[in-house]
Amino acid sequence: MRIKNDQFLRACRREPTDYTPIWLMRQAGRYMAEYRAVRERYSFLEMVKTPDVAAEITLQPVQAYPLDAAIIFADILPPLEGMGIDLTFEQGEGPVIHNPLRTPADVAALVVPEPRETTAFTLEAIQLVQRELAGRIPLIGFSGAPFTLASYAIEGGSGKDYRITKRMMLGTPDVWHSLMQKLTELVISYCHAQVEAGVNAVQLFDSWAGNLSPFDYREYVLPYVNQCVAAVRELGVPVIYFGTEMSGMASLLRQTGADVLGVDWRIDLDEAWAQLGPGVAVQGNLDPAVLFAPWGEIERRVDDILARAAGRDGHIFNLGHGILTETPVDHVARLVEYVQMASRVA
Ligand code: CP3
Repeated sequence: MRIKNDQFLRACRREPTDYTPIWLMRQAGRYMAEYRAVRERYSFLEMVKTPDVAAEITLQPVQAYPLDAAIIFADILPPLEGMGIDLTFEQGEGPVIHNPLRTPADVAALVVPEPRETTAFTLEAIQLVQRELAGRIPLIGFSGAPFTLASYAIEGGSGKDYRITKRMMLGTPDVWHSLMQKLTELVISYCHAQVEAGVNAVQLFDSWAGNLSPFDYREYVLPYVNQCVAAVRELGVPVIYFGTEMSGMASLLRQTGADVLGVDWRIDLDEAWAQLGPGVAVQGNLDPAVLFAPWGEIERRVDDILARAAGRDGHIFNLGHGILTETPVDHVARLVEYVQMASRVA
């Protein structure tokens, strides 16, 4: 299908755009009253697993704001359930995995499922959303990247210092590599199924990879990210690779082979771009907490980011991480419109 507003996809390919396209990580979520209204009737996992509900939530932000891309409403963790991982989301605590991977036998017992069967709900939601969008804007699919998935599966939830994960990585590297290989196969087939279902780009979330030293990232993580990126790019869609606190790993980020690299707010955008070098698009990088500031301060930060991007092809405006709960919705609306207006090429 031809996409009418293809500014986002053009930026992914570093082609000229009419203005800087914008979407927001976690753009469907609790800061929206429309989301909270649906959330009252379902648990989070029920929302993810009911295709028409997931489709409705996906569309809420793109109906409320003139965003340049939609992202499918899902989560990085449900695809692990098909491997044999027992997942719940506890109120106020986030994800909990009840059978965390601790021993070589735990890893050996993991199966690599067929995502067309075990995540059929998300694939069906993608089809419903694409029917509704009818080519108005592109739809982004996503997956956790192998390291971030492994860290949840091993720690049993959100880790702090990742000591259990690093103990397996450094203490039993053969077990680590076997786990990463299984997760890589899952990520590749899950992304493949999403592209088949109709997504126009894929973002790999490696949110916690910035907790690794460059040495360990290079040795224990990068080869698997490479496999994922190459396999998805081969399907003809752009790949965005996103992590936080990765400013010290610019050359390794380039080695992922991703079309677009996500940058958090802990570095100036021009500095990040200089370190990454030419030949890659950049996504970012407003501090999500800035959206709680008075509008004038938000505008100053946006102007600064756009000035640092300096009209280069291949800039996608986004937050440096997911939008926060209770973010004022009028600031979200104004941000989207302001970025598009202020960056417009005369
Ligand atoms: O970007 C989007 O709008 C798409 C939806 C999306 C969600 N999670 C919905 C969600 C995406 C892309 C994710 C990715 C995700 N999930 C990541 C990587 C991105 C990141 O933020 O670093 C991670 C680490 C997870 C795991 C996860 N899911 C956690 C740690 C939590 C709890 C924290 C929280 O915000 O409550 C979730 C829950 C979750 N995922 C919610 C949403 C909208 C909130 C659930 C609710 O309504 O209670």
